[in-house]
Amino acid sequence: MTQGTPDYRDAGLEFPEGFVFGSATASYQIEGAAQEDGRGASIWDTFSRTPGKVLHGHTGDVACDHYHRLDADLDLMQRLGLQSYRFSIAWPRIQATGSGPANDRGLGFYSRLVDGLLARGITPIATLYHWDLPQTLEDAGGWTNRDTAYRFADYAHLMGEALGDRIAMWTTLNEPWCSAYLGYGSGVHAPGVTSGRAALTAVHHLNLAHGLGLTALRDAVRKPDAQYSATLNLHSIRGAEDAPEESQAEAIRRIDALANRAFTGPMLRGAYPADLLEDTAAVTDWQFVRPGDLELIHQPIDVLGVNYYSTVTVKMWDGVSPRTNADGHGQAAGSPWPGSEHVEFVQQPGPYTAMGWNIAPDGFESLLVDLHEQFPTLPLMITENGAAFDDVVIDGRVHDPLRIDYLRRHFTAAHRAMQRGVDLRGYQVWSLMDNFEWAYGYTKRFGIVHVDYDTLERTPKDSAHWYSELIRTRRIPE
Ligand code: FCB
Repeated sequence: MTQGTPDYRDAGLEFPEGFVFGSATASYQIEGAAQEDGRGASIWDTFSRTPGKVLHGHTGDVACDHYHRLDADLDLMQRLGLQSYRFSIAWPRIQATGSGPANDRGLGFYSRLVDGLLARGITPIATLYHWDLPQTLEDAGGWTNRDTAYRFADYAHLMGEALGDRIAMWTTLNEPWCSAYLGYGSGVHAPGVTSGRAALTAVHHLNLAHGLGLTALRDAVRKPDAQYSATLNLHSIRGAEDAPEESQAEAIRRIDALANRAFTGPMLRGAYPADLLEDTAAVTDWQFVRPGDLELIHQPIDVLGVNYYSTVTVKMWDGVSPRTNADGHGQAAGSPWPGSEHVEFVQQPGPYTAMGWNIAPDGFESLLVDLHEQFPTLPLMITENGAAFDDVVIDGRVHDPLRIDYLRRHFTAAHRAMQRGVDLRGYQVWSLMDNFEWAYGYTKRFGIVHVDYDTLERTPKDSAHWYSELIRTRRIPE
C-alpha cells in the first residue's frame, strides 16, 4: 500500500504509458436537434415536456447544439489534447420508433463523429444506451417489456454493422441502475414510473439487453481488437457510525445487493444473488427471469466501465427517528430501493458539490480496490467522474479551483488504487462540456468547458487547461 497525504493531494503522481485520458458526454444531454434528420421521440423528450418533471421545464431540444457544431467541438477536443472521447448514440436517431431499418441520416451523424475523432487521433468509445429510449417502445412497456431487450439487440447489430470497423470500445448500457430504479422506481427520471415491481422487472430486462446486445454486436463488428463493456454506477457504501454494527452491515448488504450485485451478479457471475431475491420477495417473484436468461446475460466483457461521484451512508431505520432520505438522487415520489425501504440514507460529511453530493476520493479508491478483489482478472475503465459547481465567466475566463481540486483528488485516488493492483485502463472525465443534467435541466454545470446557453459559446474552464497539462505530462499537476 502506498503512503499518501490524507487529503488525496499527493505530489508528482505519474500515470503509465497507455493509460487513456479522455472525456465523456451523452447524446440527449448535448446534441439538441431533437426533431432533425428523422430522429424519433425518446422518453426524455416526453418526460421533459411533462410539467414538474424537469427543473424550469428545460428540455434537450437545443442542449449544446452539438449536432450542428460537430466539427468545432471535435477541434476543441483536439486542442485540449483528449486521447479518447466517450459519447452515446441516440437510439431514436437510428430507429425512430425503436425497430425497423436504420435511418441513414442518423447513422451519418455518428459516422462523421467517429471519422472526425479518428482524423484527430482521438479514440472513440461508444455507448449504445445512455437513457434515450424510443418513446414508441416505452408505449409498449419500455424496460418492463421483455421485447425491449430484443429490440435493443437489433439496434446493437445495426450499429455494429455501421461503425464496427472503427469503434475501439463499445459499451452496451450506461448506469442501468438509474434506468431501472430512477426511471421505474422513484420516478425522478424518464419515464417517471413509480413501482418497485416495475423497477426490478426493468433491472432484469436491462441485464438481458446487455447480454443480447453484446452477442449481436460481436456478431456484426468487423474489428478483431474491438473491446466490449458495460458501464455501472457501482455504489460505494458506508455504514452510519452512530448505528449498531449489525444495523450498518445489514443496510450495506441490502443496498449492495440492489445497487451493485443486481448487475454484477448476472453480468459477471451468471446468477442473481440469493439475498437479493429474498430481500425483494414481497415485491416480485422474479418470474420474469426465464430459463436460459442468465446464460444469455453472462457474456464475456473486456473492460468494466465505472462511474463514480460520491458515497452513500446507510443504516437500518430504527422506526423512531425521522428518516432523512438523503440518497442524493432528488425528491422521489416512489422508492428507488424496492424491498429495502427501511434502509435509511443519512446525511454525509462534506464538502459537497453543487449537486449536494459529498466529495469522497477515499470512497473511490475503496470502490476500485473492492471491485478488483471481487473480479481480479477484470480490467476497469473510469467512464465518468467529475463535479458540478456554480461556475461563472469573468473576462472570458472560468476559474473553477473547486473542480480542479475534485479532479486532482480523484485522479490521486485512482492512482492509489492502481498502486494497490487495480488494472485501470483509463479515465473519462464527466463532462467535456456543461449540458442538460436530467431532472436538474441546465442548472448544474459539470463541464470542463463552459457553455453559454444563450450564445452556445464554449469557453474552456481552468480545469480544462489543468486537464490538458495532466494529459500532456501524465503527471497530476500541482
Ligand atoms: C451520471 C450520468 C451522466 C451525468 C452524471 C452527472 O449518473 O450517467 O449522464 O448526468 O451522472
